[in-house]
Amino acid sequence: MNDLARHRFYLKSKLNWMESKKVKTDQEQRFPRPDLFKPFEKKGSIFVHLPFPEKTTITNNDAFNIIMERRSKRKYTDEPLSVDELSWLVYASQGVKEIGPKQAFSLRTVPSGGARHTMVTYIAIMNVNKIESGVYRYLPQEHQLVRLHQDEKLSDNIVKCCHGQAFAGKASVVFFWSSIPYRSEWRYHLEAHRYILMDAGHACQNLYLASGTIGAGTCAIGAYDQIFTDNYLKLDGANELTIYAAAVGKIKKDK
Ligand SMILES: Cc1cc2nc3c(=O)[nH]c(=O)nc-3n(C[C@H](O)[C@H](O)[C@H](O)COP(=O)(O)O)c2cc1C
Repeated sequence: MNDLARHRFYLKSKLNWMESKKVKTDQEQRFPRPDLFKPFEKKGSIFVHLPFPEKTTITNNDAFNIIMERRSKRKYTDEPLSVDELSWLVYASQGVKEIGPKQAFSLRTVPSGGARHTMVTYIAIMNVNKIESGVYRYLPQEHQLVRLHQDEKLSDNIVKCCHGQAFAGKASVVFFWSSIPYRSEWRYHLEAHRYILMDAGHACQNLYLASGTIGAGTCAIGAYDQIFTDNYLKLDGANELTIYAAAVGKIKKDK
């Protein structure tokens, strides 16, 4: 089997394969369920409270036009996003709507295979009113941001994360989504990895659509530097790793 054929196996559903191999998932073997949310340090951390999204934040509520006009946007104006707008974007892409008994699962604004929700959202904030620039992590249960670090060379480093794509450094915010794969592997074994990437597509698509409601534009970023970005976000690259990114900024009204 050559490399391409081997890698195509990755695109295929593994359910029949797992049945024929009599694979028992970790869940079936009663291994402990992985945490629903990534823990964070409360003491000494800097938090940004996000208001719960209000419909009044939206300037365009026309789903038909938003879908018809959706494009990837790489040119942004200098207009900052407001905190309300950022709150909406982050909620639309990963917000928690319900948490199951004993924190067994969460239901969010986007679907996820088996409601495993392996993604963690990091946001490089470069131009948002009333929020200091820096790299933040979204806390979905609290609907807050916690600051990871500040960086005098934030924009340059974001461009480096994005494999030299200059437009990312000129965005108001760049979303980076990581995955904690075991949350899905625990239930789905080798089937997990496709679901994880499918989930990422849903999150990013909601970001595109939510951006359309506030006069902002988004561009998905699959071409990122894995090692540089994982290091920059302080991820170990094994148990948690970057899987997708997207830049967002305000766009000229006629574009
Ligand atoms: C999985 C994925 C990865 C992408 N990665 C990048 C990227 O790294 N840089 C970029 O400029 N655009 C990226 N894009 C945007 C595509 O280039 C864009 O969707 C495509 O050209 C079609 O244009 P449209 O989105 O305006 O319809 C990506 C899109 C997807 C779905």
